[in-house]
Amino acid sequence: LKTLIVVSGGDAPGINAAMAVFTRRAASSGDSVIGAIGGFPGVLDNQIIPLSPTLLDPFVGQGGTYLDSSRDPVLKAADAQEKLRAQLAAHRVDNVLLFGGDGTLRHIPPLLHAWGVPTVGIPSTIDNDIPGTEMTLGFDSACNFAYRTIDGLLATARALRGRIFTVETLGGSTGFIALAVAQGSAAHAALIPEYPYDETYLLKQVMDGIQRDTYALIVLSEGLSTRDSMPKFVERSTGIRVRDTRLGHGQRGTPPSHQDRVLASQMAQLAYETLRAGATSMGITVVRSGKVTLHEGVLAGFEPRTPDKGLYDQINGY
Ligand code: F6P
Repeated sequence: LKTLIVVSGGDAPGINAAMAVFTRRAASSGDSVIGAIGGFPGVLDNQIIPLSPTLLDPFVGQGGTYLDSSRDPVLKAADAQEKLRAQLAAHRVDNVLLFGGDGTLRHIPPLLHAWGVPTVGIPSTIDNDIPGTEMTLGFDSACNFAYRTIDGLLATARALRGRIFTVETLGGSTGFIALAVAQGSAAHAALIPEYPYDETYLLKQVMDGIQRDTYALIVLSEGLSTRDSMPKFVERSTGIRVRDTRLGHGQRGTPPSHQDRVLASQMAQLAYETLRAGATSMGITVVRSGKVTLHEGVLAGFEPRTPDKGLYDQINGY
């Protein structure tokens, strides 16, 4: 059998590890794997290379993706879809392993399914916002990256009392990373796009933090509507200078954590076994009740995931 690997959308730590595991399994069973450079635009442009364990193994511990990705929605055009079909036939592709976020996993598998090309998708995004899975590849690494910065900030915070720190995580329009990281670093406030916050409580949390812990830590998600004004507001209201840190894209490109390597390995093995057995024409590897399992079909019809409101209230002192 021959598998084509395509990475589409934002990269995530663990994609390299998953590609390496899949390719190793395939090689040991005599199957071959090829990969697209540059996502679907790359497939259309015939940027397709053979993949082997020797090629991919050195990248297991690296963030990003060996096969670079693309956010260009080229396949919206009917002629591009036809060209993709022709490319799959020209390269004698039997099935596809797809890495991507919600949009990719929703729209691409049905297209391939209609042409009789089985696909398995691996939900890959640091944002952990894909309905139908409890965990996406990359989320754990992104949280660990935040801890490394926050631990440094808190060491200096404890050395010089009475300071206020804000830390912005990635997450797009969602707050899963910020909320998780706020919990894991015992922050005094977590500000995320999904829920409004109360300024009075925020100031109380900040002043209580300084009183009790000698510093105040506010973790916020990049999508917060008051992202730019909030630190100034806190500064004005407390009379204490606020030190602001943006984690930025270093958070997305960080090396995969232990948990993401394990998740990558489990999802890649399941994807390989499923494709090898011809067990599905469209499947997504998901985490349900803490276990990696195969979801048949696309991840449609699931409620959008929402950050835990109880945890949000608890962290913010509501
Ligand atoms: O892939 C998800 C994500 O990293 C979000 O957390 C972030 O907002 C966005 O992608 C950044 O996208 P871009 O790479 O286009 O700046």
